[in-house]
Amino acid sequence: MSFLTVKSVNHTYFTTKQATKALEAISFSMEQGEFVSLLGPSGCGKTTLLSIISGLLQPTGGEVRIDGKAPDLRASSIGYMLQQDYLFPWKTIEENICLGLKMKNQLNPETKQKALQFLHDIGLHGVEKQFPRQLSGGMRQRAALVRTLAVDPKILLLDEPFSALDFQTKLKLEDLVFATLKQFKKTAILVTHDIGEAISMSDRILLLAAKPGRLHKVFEVPEKLRMVRPFEARSKESYTVLFNEIWKELESLENER
Ligand SMILES: Nc1ncnc2c1ncn2[C@@H]1O[C@H](COP(=O)(O)OP(=O)(O)OP(=O)(O)O)[C@@H](O)[C@H]1O
Ligand SMILES: [Mg+2]
Repeated sequence: MSFLTVKSVNHTYFTTKQATKALEAISFSMEQGEFVSLLGPSGCGKTTLLSIISGLLQPTGGEVRIDGKAPDLRASSIGYMLQQDYLFPWKTIEENICLGLKMKNQLNPETKQKALQFLHDIGLHGVEKQFPRQLSGGMRQRAALVRTLAVDPKILLLDEPFSALDFQTKLKLEDLVFATLKQFKKTAILVTHDIGEAISMSDRILLLAAKPGRLHKVFEVPEKLRMVRPFEARSKESYTVLFNEIWKELESLENER
């Protein structure tokens, strides 16, 4: 059985005034160590799908299994980095990045040191005692990423983790995160709007269509691109070929609307 299975997931949001069908018949599975990206127009349900996989949101239909069990965000096996509002403003950066460890009873000098080291590796120096409001958007995003990785989750759910970063920092972080995940054979799902990011980081790309959100097409990333770090992948010929293919597909989805 696969490490992650998403079976016939549907989701409708109900408010007092209307019902919004966000997801329809989503099914796919992932093996351990696989890296999958979710790509698709704004509002196609990417965040909704990630929240369902994390166990934070119960789907109105279908089911998700991680390692054979229903997802439970409190279990240390899931690391979820939300699209926004990810740091607690009244806690310092150090307290924020150790929060997951604390909640999961894994906070000790060793795990704390590891988290602080990662903060350093990710380019945040001397911010430990500062509060989120003292940092730029990109710096906060990096701190949130450290917090997500600190608990050593088996599966990582990343909702546009690099979107607020300048291009150079983004490319560097892609390489760093890619190397970290590969080293520890982590399974990861990345939500992004960036076709290049999806191609250079993933094994597979799921393209979603909107209204209602559904699986439109699946792209396998060629082996040659998967073997090299994201920065290098961006300069390969097969990268450009796949980029154009996905671009055209996204355009056709836009025209459908
Ligand atoms: N809490 C909510 N209540 C009602 N409708 C919601 C809620 N959250 C999302 N939706 C609706 O569900 C659909 C999917 O939203 P979702 O946030 O999952 O999209 P997304 O693909 O992550 O978009 P983006 O790329 O802009 O982040 C949208 O039509 C949105 O308006
Ligand atoms: Mg979203």
